[in-house]
Amino acid sequence: MSRTGPRRTTEPGAGPGEIRVAVAGASGRMGRVALEAIEAAPDLVLAGAVARRFAEGTEGASSPLAAELVARGIPVYADLATCLKEASPAVLVEFTSAAVAPSNLRTALERGVVPVSGTTGLSSQELAAIAALTEERGVGAAVIPNFSLGAAVLAMLARRAAGYFGAAEIIEQHHDQKLDAPSGTALALARAVAGNLRRRAGKGPDQPAESLVAAGRDRGAGGPPPDPRGLSVDGVRVHSVRLSGLVAHHEIIFASEGETLALRHDSTSRSSFMPGLLLTVRHARALRGLVTSLEDILAMAGLTATSAG
Ligand SMILES: NC(=O)c1ccc[n+]([C@@H]2O[C@H](COP(=O)([O-])OP(=O)(O)OC[C@H]3O[C@@H](n4cnc5c(N)ncnc54)[C@H](OP(=O)(O)O)[C@@H]3O)[C@@H](O)[C@H]2O)c1
Repeated sequence: MSRTGPRRTTEPGAGPGEIRVAVAGASGRMGRVALEAIEAAPDLVLAGAVARRFAEGTEGASSPLAAELVARGIPVYADLATCLKEASPAVLVEFTSAAVAPSNLRTALERGVVPVSGTTGLSSQELAAIAALTEERGVGAAVIPNFSLGAAVLAMLARRAAGYFGAAEIIEQHHDQKLDAPSGTALALARAVAGNLRRRAGKGPDQPAESLVAAGRDRGAGGPPPDPRGLSVDGVRVHSVRLSGLVAHHEIIFASEGETLALRHDSTSRSSFMPGLLLTVRHARALRGLVTSLEDILAMAGLTATSAG
C-alpha cells in the first residue's frame, strides 16, 4: 500500500457533472500548479496525486508540501497503477519526464482513464504507439507540449505569416532545469510553419523531421554533434537557451528580402498553462485518438480564432 493520508472522497463517483482527476508528477513544478488549479475548479474533483518523492516511507513524506496534501485530504501514491485503482479518476493529468510518460499514458489507457499529458520530449515513435493504442481501444488521449492559450495563438499567427516569407528561425528560451531541447513547442511551431514557407520559397525540407534529435535525452555520445546554427527542423532553424529565471519563451523571426517580422510569446508564470490544461481536462472524455495540439481542443470548445472573432 503506497497511499499516504486519508481519501478525500470515499466513493469512486463524483457529483453530477464533476470529473475526477488524478495528477502524476505532483511533486514537480508543473504538477504542483496543476494540483492547485484542479482543486480550485468547481467542476473537478482532485482524486489523488502520484509523487514518489512524497510517498510513505520516503524522506519527502515529511516535506511541507506532502504534509499539506495529506492535511487537505488528498491521497498521495508512490505508483500510478495503485492511484488509478484506488482513486478511480476519469482523467489523468501527467507532467513527468519523457522517460516515464509513455508508460504512464499506456497504464492510464489500459485502465480506461483518459490521459492528458503535458510532458515534452516524447519521440514520434512513442507518440505513434500511443495513437495506435487509442485507436485500438476507441478512446482518446492528449499529449500537448504547451497548454498556454498565448502559445496556441502564436502558432496560428505564425502559420498565417509563414505564407508571406521565405525563411524563419525560432529562438526558444526556458529555465535551466528543463530536460529536453529543443522544446516540444518549438518543434511543433517549426513544423507548423515549414510547409507554408516551403511553398513560398519553392524548395523542399533540408532534413526530414524524423531524423532530427527530438529530445535532449536522445543526445548521447553516439548522437549527432551540436550544430552552432541550431537544429534544423524541416528547414526551420531552432535555437535553445537555458537560463535560471526563465519560464517558457518562444520567438519566431520571419525574413524576406529587406524585411523581418518577429512574433513572440512569453509564459512568465506556470499559471499561464492552467486555462488550457483545464479546458483539455473538461473535453478529455470526448476525445478520440491522440490529440497533440491545444488548437484542436480550442476548436472542440468552439474557441477557434474564427469563432472568437
Ligand atoms: N505542456 C505544457 O504546457 C508544459 C509546460 C511546462 C512544462 N511542461 C513539461 O512538463 C514536464 C514536467 O515539467 P516540470 O517542470 O514539472 O518537471 P519537474 O519539476 O522535474 O517534475 C517532474 C515530476 O515528475 C516525476 N518524475 C520524473 N521522472 C520520473 C520517473 N522516471 N518516474 C516517475 N516519476 C517521475 C517527479 O516526481 P516524483 O519523483 O516525486 O515522482 C517530478 O517531480 C516536462 O516534460 C516539461 O517540459 C509542459
